[in-house]
Amino acid sequence: MPRPVSLEIRPVRNGRGIVALRPFAPGELVWRLRGKAVRPAAVWRWWDSDPRRAANCIRFGDELFLDTRGDFGEFANHACRPNAGLFKERGTLALRAIRRIAAGAEVTHDYSTYIGADDVWTMRCNCGERGCRGRVRRFDQLPAATLARYRREGLIPAFILRTANSISS
Ligand SMILES: C[S@@+](CC[C@H](N)C(=O)[O-])C[C@H]1O[C@@H](n2cnc3c(N)ncnc32)[C@H](O)[C@@H]1O
Ligand SMILES: [Zn+2]
Repeated sequence: MPRPVSLEIRPVRNGRGIVALRPFAPGELVWRLRGKAVRPAAVWRWWDSDPRRAANCIRFGDELFLDTRGDFGEFANHACRPNAGLFKERGTLALRAIRRIAAGAEVTHDYSTYIGADDVWTMRCNCGERGCRGRVRRFDQLPAATLARYRREGLIPAFILRTANSISS
């Protein structure tokens, strides 16, 4: 896998995670996640047969996931008070700092920003942040203030926002 010089995979609170080796400024690109586009049915199959692989798959479109296995990004952990966010850019997912990331800090993002209203996946959270939500759920179940702030900061992609409309209509 391509190895960035400014990041390292290290043991962290939740298994292995991405650790910054230098500070990152808000908005700065930390890493561009690449992977293979796969259909939702494949991801559902992997939840039974290969859950580690399924856990590396990030929603990437209405009927598409990005399988990041083999990419540095497969070690990106969730936090309820993240220091980075995922932005869909030109067929990749750009992991960008959303506040200053200090050297030595783990780079995290909020998984809920890519969980659609049509998805049933949840995860017990062990991020340890003050205000941890306890369970990671779909984006439309985020606390109202968090959802409003994420929307303002462009952290929830249009194809995820749309899933809430298609459920209610
Ligand atoms: C994309 S992998 C991240 C890399 C993983 N930590 C590892 O060591 O391979 C996602 C998995 O990491 C774990 N994980 C990530 N963030 C977590 C969190 N905040 N609380 C509990 N587990 C977490 C869960 O097992 C999740 O399915
Ligand atoms: Zn949490």
